[in-house]
Amino acid sequence: MRIAVTAASGRLGTVTLEHLKHRVPHDNVVAVARNPSRVAVKGIEKRVGDYQSPEQMRAALEEIDTVIMISAPVAGGGDRLAMHRDVINAAKKAGVRKLIYTSVIGNELAEGTYFEPFYRVNNDTERFLMESGLEWVVARNGLYLDLDLLHIRHAHEHGGVYRNNAGEGRCGYISIEELGFALARVAVTEHCDGMAVNLFGELHTQAELVALASEALGLNVRYEPISLEANVARFMQDERIAARGEDVAKMLSGCFQCMEKGVYEVTSQFERAAGRPARPLSEQIANLA
Ligand SMILES: NC(=O)c1ccc[n+]([C@@H]2O[C@H](COP(=O)([O-])OP(=O)(O)OC[C@H]3O[C@@H](n4cnc5c(N)ncnc54)[C@H](OP(=O)(O)O)[C@@H]3O)[C@@H](O)[C@H]2O)c1
Repeated sequence: MRIAVTAASGRLGTVTLEHLKHRVPHDNVVAVARNPSRVAVKGIEKRVGDYQSPEQMRAALEEIDTVIMISAPVAGGGDRLAMHRDVINAAKKAGVRKLIYTSVIGNELAEGTYFEPFYRVNNDTERFLMESGLEWVVARNGLYLDLDLLHIRHAHEHGGVYRNNAGEGRCGYISIEELGFALARVAVTEHCDGMAVNLFGELHTQAELVALASEALGLNVRYEPISLEANVARFMQDERIAARGEDVAKMLSGCFQCMEKGVYEVTSQFERAAGRPARPLSEQIANLA
């Protein structure tokens, strides 16, 4: 049973492939990437597959039983929904049996936020997959702990105050490592077939997350809520974000706006997917030290 991971050169793809190598023989694991030389995982077959080239994707998915389709980057440009649909159609044409789509946790409270357009792409892709005729799993990933930890560390090094517009909202967090573990098991078992599963460990406010990170990593940081507008302005002072435009600053602030509204306060099915509970968040943080 050959299993392919698309967008395999990214963080989630890399970790998922490593976990798949522990579960099935290496020659049954296939990395699909638009530039296979960027795939870091050793000892597996690598194939060329760009989301913007349906014909290339069809060829890349020949003789594959199960595909883990990692969602296209939010800020990568291009029509993400069209790309996702094209990959699903390519998988069907190639004779793939089961496709797992990595979506993001959330609920309808996302409506009206700056993140809503991106949330809709995930939702529309989910629906397209469910109606595709393929066997399917929607893996709704929690928010990457790895990314928010980077910001908290940055705050530690620049004044000790972590500011954003999430307020008191609670959010389901998970490390990319834990996600890769769960996704690999979802690919090789049937426990989640025909289901949308939320993958995260614990719900935390920003203040709680900062406290956990401070304790586990010996940081000295406190959390300070600011308004949505102030956070967009804060992001625009970061020249890397400013270079990508105000829409990116709004999209990133939109994630925290969703937190504030309770969009990411959902129920986790991590244990069903992974076969064990998620590691405590403090342990996940320590593993990222
Ligand atoms: N849950 C969360 O908190 C969260 C946070 C951030 C992102 N995400 C979502 O999760 C996805 C995976 O995250 P990640 O951390 O692995 O992202 P990442 O490290 O930025 O990797 C993105 C991957 O997408 C690939 N890619 C970009 N355009 C492509 C195209 N046209 N065709 C095929 N592959 C393409 C990149 O390939 P190259 O190496 O060729 O550039 C890379 O492998 C993201 O794309 C995003 O949709 C979720």
